[in-house]
Amino acid sequence: MTISNGVASPNVAANGHRRSTSFFQDHGIWKEAPVLIGTTRFEPRPDVRNIMITGGAGFIACWLVRHLTLTYPHAYNIVSFDKLDYCSSLNNTRMLDGRRNFAFYQGDVTNPAEVVDCLERYNIDTIVHFAAQSHVDLSFGNSYTFTHTNVYGTHVLLESARKMRIKRFIHISTDEVYGEVDDDDDDLLESSILAPTNPYAASKAAAEMLVHSYQKSFKLPAIIVRSNNVYGPHQYPRNNPQIHLPPRARRPGSPARRRLADAALPVYNVGAADELSNLALCRRLLAAFRIAPADFPRWIRHTHDRPFNDRRYAVDAAKLRALGWEPQTAFDDGLGVTVAWYRRFGLRWWGDVAKVLTPFPVVAAREVVSDHAPVSDNPQQDGWGWEVKRGKEKGTGDGGEGSSNGHV
Ligand SMILES: NC(=O)c1ccc[n+]([C@@H]2O[C@H](COP(=O)([O-])OP(=O)(O)OC[C@H]3O[C@@H](n4cnc5c(N)ncnc54)[C@H](O)[C@@H]3O)[C@@H](O)[C@H]2O)c1
Repeated sequence: MTISNGVASPNVAANGHRRSTSFFQDHGIWKEAPVLIGTTRFEPRPDVRNIMITGGAGFIACWLVRHLTLTYPHAYNIVSFDKLDYCSSLNNTRMLDGRRNFAFYQGDVTNPAEVVDCLERYNIDTIVHFAAQSHVDLSFGNSYTFTHTNVYGTHVLLESARKMRIKRFIHISTDEVYGEVDDDDDDLLESSILAPTNPYAASKAAAEMLVHSYQKSFKLPAIIVRSNNVYGPHQYPRNNPQIHLPPRARRPGSPARRRLADAALPVYNVGAADELSNLALCRRLLAAFRIAPADFPRWIRHTHDRPFNDRRYAVDAAKLRALGWEPQTAFDDGLGVTVAWYRRFGLRWWGDVAKVLTPFPVVAAREVVSDHAPVSDNPQQDGWGWEVKRGKEKGTGDGGEGSSNGHV
């Protein structure tokens, strides 16, 4: 079932405005695609029944929506709550339409009335909160939107969860809240100090502070998950490395190792051992596209750098591993699956995305447009006003110039 602000027609909001109609046009492409879900299967929890997943039409959350709906048809009812922003697609969950235990609710996490309506309508007991403005590059030019969605939106959810006595609140955060990690530093533990360096990461760190406060003040049962960069099928092409990858040089940094005492709130890092420079990732992608190494230079274009670019991220995921979690997919296997999926569906899944495949697109009224940033065959002087210094390339083996871990 599809609900838009509680009104039966999916295209009309409660205030009578038509909204997001293009998202509801079904061209049937999803019927050709494999139904991709995760590999885990646990005994269903008896205290969990009705789960609201925010950002469910976006990349990572749609995997959880499909996985829980299809793996636990008799145990869990899943509500995907999403405002349908530029990076989302209902194709990500259309294969679930008609399932007894799935519903889509078009709503905005910054709108308390819509959040509470969804919680009441579906008698929600558990919230998994993914919805966010998630693209770092956009946060340099559009940062108020990031604060509004990621901080205020999280606050609205927490306050609504408190009022409705939600039993479990899982907040999806990012390793970027730690800021950059120097080559010589240990991988960061969950107790490390948060030191975000860009508006996106700062908004995610601020959201975490609110989660902490609701857990402390109101005993809201909350968990925070901080993940490394994620890639794979179903991600809006602008955000995924295989369609567009701006290889970047990084400014060298030297943050000290920092530790805080363990907090009462459960926090889990999710991290894999694969660490690649952007250029190394570029080459792996070109190889996956069966481009001969001698031709790589013809396919690589250089862009200017971000105003500030974290040198690398590195988290210690031992706490999660102690619970039995292990990465299941080798990086090159995952890359192969991802490239194959995008070759087949990528340019049709979200409609015409050709215009977003530029180095630094900007979002205007939910439309992504090019900022016409120049690209070149050689590393560039930085376009933001300082000269890009070459970072030392350590520990990545085949990186070449440019450093870090393939965050794009
Ligand atoms: N992609 C990564 O590599 C990565 C890594 C670590 C953490 N994360 C975190 O995981 C979460 C999901 O990331 P993603 O890459 O899937 O993002 P995404 O951009 O693909 O999806 C975000 C979804 O949130 C929705 N949304 C945005 N604003 C909303 C609002 N105000 N109300 C309701 N819905 C709204 C969008 O429509 C979209 O469907 C984010 O919180 C992000 O910070 C992502």
